[in-house]
Amino acid sequence: MKLEKLFLEKTGNAPVFLARAPGRVNLLGEHVDYNDGIVLPVALEQEVKLVAAPAREGIVNLYALDLQEQVSLRLVDLDIKVDIDGKPLPEWAYYPAGTAWSLWRAGLHISGLSVVYTSSVPIGAGLSSSAAVEMGFAVLWQAAGGWKLDRLELARLCQKAENEYVGVACGLMDQFASACGVAGHALFFDTRSLRWQPEPLPEGYAIVIADSGVRRRLSGSEYNERRASCVEAVDILKEHGLKITALRDVSPVEFAAYSNILPPMVRKRAEHVVKEIARVETAISALRRSDARAFGALMFSGHASLRDLYAVSTPELDALVEIARQLPGCQGARLTGAGFGGCTVNLVKESDLEGFITELPRRYLKQTGRQAKVYRTEAAPGASAILL
Ligand code: GLA
Repeated sequence: MKLEKLFLEKTGNAPVFLARAPGRVNLLGEHVDYNDGIVLPVALEQEVKLVAAPAREGIVNLYALDLQEQVSLRLVDLDIKVDIDGKPLPEWAYYPAGTAWSLWRAGLHISGLSVVYTSSVPIGAGLSSSAAVEMGFAVLWQAAGGWKLDRLELARLCQKAENEYVGVACGLMDQFASACGVAGHALFFDTRSLRWQPEPLPEGYAIVIADSGVRRRLSGSEYNERRASCVEAVDILKEHGLKITALRDVSPVEFAAYSNILPPMVRKRAEHVVKEIARVETAISALRRSDARAFGALMFSGHASLRDLYAVSTPELDALVEIARQLPGCQGARLTGAGFGGCTVNLVKESDLEGFITELPRRYLKQTGRQAKVYRTEAAPGASAILL
């Protein structure tokens, strides 16, 4: 049933606003966005869709269609995370509530709204379903509030929601990609200067997502632990006289000279970050000269580094990458997003696409007993909202 009709059914009113916000797949530059690094995500066709209408002043009614859940809350209670009956907010409501909280803290007007929403971004699959929800609500409240903020600024407020309200110390990449996506393009984003630029995707190649079927929860402490190791590396390197503020400031050569002062585990984590940033730099030049083979090789080495140094892969993701490597037309494959489950991203020659999409899940099933969902995706534009 159409979202507008469902809205009418749930609330008795016709919706006034329609918003959408995409998920993202990251081509390269993993776990570097909280190290001031550079990243290369693509906004996806998979997206969150929301319809909304004004509600009683100060009240937000949320209907999460996919979860078949609903909750109402008072905007004045955002800080204490309770619903209208004083019960703790369910976890899924932290994303919209956190977004409202963050916008409100920035002094922006947040109005009472009833919102019905659904998402085609799989949850916990490394495709930024939560950033898409946050961005969707942010553009919705922007449209309803009659104010206008720069996209990147909105993305930062959504990141703040995730950092401080949800409690995941994520970087800015996901919210940025959902806010700033450009159809047909990857997004080269410098998370330090916040400068970014769309980069055309290589012609004749497809971006293919392979979902391992294993889900993760990002708020699991592992993500925050990785981030803490990076901070520790910076602190130790600073104690030894390096004038740095983030791992971004350490070149691979410098790292090699200093790495033995780091404890073994911290050294491995930092080595991934330093080399991954260098990989993105090389990958950008490969992309600009349409060298898909060179680009793909960097994806493969990025995966090995996430597996061996950053320790965020799983046997299923490793299997998907290794099988992909054997298939004709596959230039590169790697896990995408935080890891610990979720998806791989593959760069595949269009002429070999069909075979790849049939063969990868077939061999994966044989090897692991699991079903993988494998599909091509197109780069989509960033979040938007309109008045119906
Ligand atoms: C998650 C976070 C991002 C980024 C990636 C890893 O998606 O939300 O900020 O750190 O993991 O690259």
